[in-house]
Amino acid sequence: MSIGVFDSGVGGLTVHHKLVDRFPDADFIYLADQANAPYGGRGGEEIVDLTRAGCIRLFDQGCDLVVLACNTASGIALRRLQQTWLPGYRRALGRPVNILGIIVPTIEAATGLPWEHEAERRGDKVEKLDVLAVFSTPATTASRVYEIEIDKRRQDVAVFSEPCPELARMIEAGAAAEALAPIVQGHVTAITQRIGRAPDRAILGCTHYEIIADLFRAALPPGTPLIHQPDATAEALARYLERHPEFDAGDGGLRRFLTTGNPGPQPPLVATFWGAPLSFEAA
Ligand code: DGL
Repeated sequence: MSIGVFDSGVGGLTVHHKLVDRFPDADFIYLADQANAPYGGRGGEEIVDLTRAGCIRLFDQGCDLVVLACNTASGIALRRLQQTWLPGYRRALGRPVNILGIIVPTIEAATGLPWEHEAERRGDKVEKLDVLAVFSTPATTASRVYEIEIDKRRQDVAVFSEPCPELARMIEAGAAAEALAPIVQGHVTAITQRIGRAPDRAILGCTHYEIIADLFRAALPPGTPLIHQPDATAEALARYLERHPEFDAGDGGLRRFLTTGNPGPQPPLVATFWGAPLSFEAA
C-alpha cells in the first residue's frame, strides 16, 4: 500500500518531507487540494466535506492510511470523519483504511504527555507558568482545539492563539519573503501585546507557516523554542505503524504529488526546504 498525505496545498509538504526522511523506502502519494485552498477561512461543514473528498481520492489511489498534514482539516474534520463516516466506508471498501491527523502528535510534543493522559482536575487554582503561542488559520483558532486539548492535560500551560488569515493564501500564491515578513511580525507583535510579554514557546499551527519558519524565528525573541509538527508527526506515524502491522507502508520508494488545482511547478519557497523545485500532477 501507499501512505497518503493530504493538505489544502503546499504546507503539508513540510510534514511530507519529514515522513520521506523517516521512511525512505515507503510509498507515498501527496495530495494538495489547491482547487479549494485555503481552507482556513471556510466553514466547518465545508472543511469536513473537502477533507472527506481528499481522503476518498487517496484511498481510491490505493492508499490505506492517510495522514492529514493540515491543522485545519485535523482540528475540524478528523474526529467527525472517524466517528461518523470512516467505519461505514471501511466496511464498504472491505479493507482496513484509517486517517491520522497532525494535532494529536503536536499536543503530545507540547505537553510532553501521551494523548491518553488526562490530568486529574483539582479544585484549586493552578498557576500558569508556561505561555504557549499558537499561530494558526482562523478556522483552527476558532475551534480552540489547542486550548481545549492542552488544558485537559497540562493546567500549568497557558495557550494563546493568533489567527493569521492571510498567510496560507499568500504562501500558496508564491509571495516573496519580503512581503510575508511584516505580516508575520505584525502577528507576533499582536500576540505579544495580548499576552503582556513574549511567549515561552510557540507552535506554528498551520503547516504552511513551517515553510516560513525562519520569518517566525526572526520575529520571535531569539531562541524561542518552536514545537516542530513535522518531527512530531513522523515519530507518531512510526509508533502507529509499529502498533498496526496490518498497515504496510510499502517498499518501492514511490513518490507522487497530486493536485486538484493547476498541475505544474510549485512556488519557489517550497524548493527552499524541499531542496529542489517540485512539480505537481493533476489528481
Ligand atoms: N496548511 C493548512 C493547515 O495546517 C491549511 C491552510 C489553509 O488552507 O488555510 O492548517
